[in-house]
Amino acid sequence: MTTSKPIKPVRKAVLPVAGMGTRFLPATKAVPKEMLTVVDKPVIQYAVEEAAAAGIEQFIFVTGRGKHVIEDHFDHAYELEALLSAREKTKELNSLLESLPESGSVSFTRQQAPKGLGHAVWCARHFVGDEPFAVLLPDEILVDGVGCLSQMVAAYAETGGCVVAVREVPLEETKRYGIIAPTGEKGSMIAMSGVVEKPDPASAPSRLAVIGRYILQPEVFGELDRHEIGAGNEIQLTDAMARLIGRMPFHGYRFTGQRYDCGDKVGFLHANIAVGLEHPDISGPLKEILKSLKL
Ligand code: UTP
Repeated sequence: MTTSKPIKPVRKAVLPVAGMGTRFLPATKAVPKEMLTVVDKPVIQYAVEEAAAAGIEQFIFVTGRGKHVIEDHFDHAYELEALLSAREKTKELNSLLESLPESGSVSFTRQQAPKGLGHAVWCARHFVGDEPFAVLLPDEILVDGVGCLSQMVAAYAETGGCVVAVREVPLEETKRYGIIAPTGEKGSMIAMSGVVEKPDPASAPSRLAVIGRYILQPEVFGELDRHEIGAGNEIQLTDAMARLIGRMPFHGYRFTGQRYDCGDKVGFLHANIAVGLEHPDISGPLKEILKSLKL
C-alpha cells in the first residue's frame, strides 16, 4: 500500500518512563529502573543517544511519581561541573557535557497513574501534535553499529506510515510481547495484517515480537482516546496500533543487531557484561574476572 500524503520526517520521540519497575524491587523502590546503570551510563541514556543519532530533535519523557532524577540527569549539575573543572578532570567533565541534550529539546509530562503503555503514550499527545513520532522503550538496548531507530527511520523514508521493530522470540515467550501477523517480507520490512498483545503461544499469529521501538502516525492518538482496556487490564498501545493497520502503510522492521532487555534481571546483567566487554577502560579486567569464575 502506498500513502498519498508526503512522508513527513520523524523529529520527536516519546520515552515512556512511568512504569513501576516491579521486576527490580527492591532496587527500584526509590530509584527509577531507567536510572540503573549499564557500565557507566543509566539505561535511559542509551535510548536518548540512539534517538539523537536517528535525527530526533525533541525528547518527550512521560514520567511518574518518584522519577524526578531522570529530569536532573538531563540537566546541568553546576556544582559538580565546577568541581570537575577546578580539579582538571576534563574527561569526566566532558562525559557529563556530551550527554546533555540541547536546551529546550527536552519536555516532561506525567502519567498520573500507571494505566499502561498506551495511556503513557497518549499523555504525550499535546507535545507531539500532528506529526509522526518515535516511541522508545528505554528498557531495551538495541545496538548494531548504527542504532535501531536510525535503521527504522531510513526504512520509513521509503514507506511512510507506521514501522515497529520486531524480532523472533521463542514460542513460549509470545505472551510477554505484542506479536505481529506477517503477510510478506521485503528486505528488512515485513508487511503485516495485525498485531496482538501478549497472545498465548497456541494463538500467536507468529513469533515476531515488537521490541520497544516504534514510528507512529498521530492518528494513533485518536485510537488511544478510546481508553480501551486491553491485556493485563491496561490501556495497550498495541490495540491502538492494530486499528491503524489497513488505513496506512504498516510494517514490522526486522532488527538483527544485539538486543538487551534491561527490564529483566538477566537481560540487565547480560547488557552489563556485553557492554563492559566492549568498554576500553574495563574490558581487560572484566575478561579476567569472567575467566576466573570458571563457568
Ligand atoms: P513494562 O511492561 O516493562 O512495565 O513497561 P514496568 O512497570 O516498567 O516494569 P515491571 O514489569 O513492573 O518490572 C514497558 C515500558 O512502558 C512504560 C515503562 O516505563 C516501560 O518503559 N510504562 C508502562 C509507562 O510509562 N506507563 C505504564 O503505565 C506502563
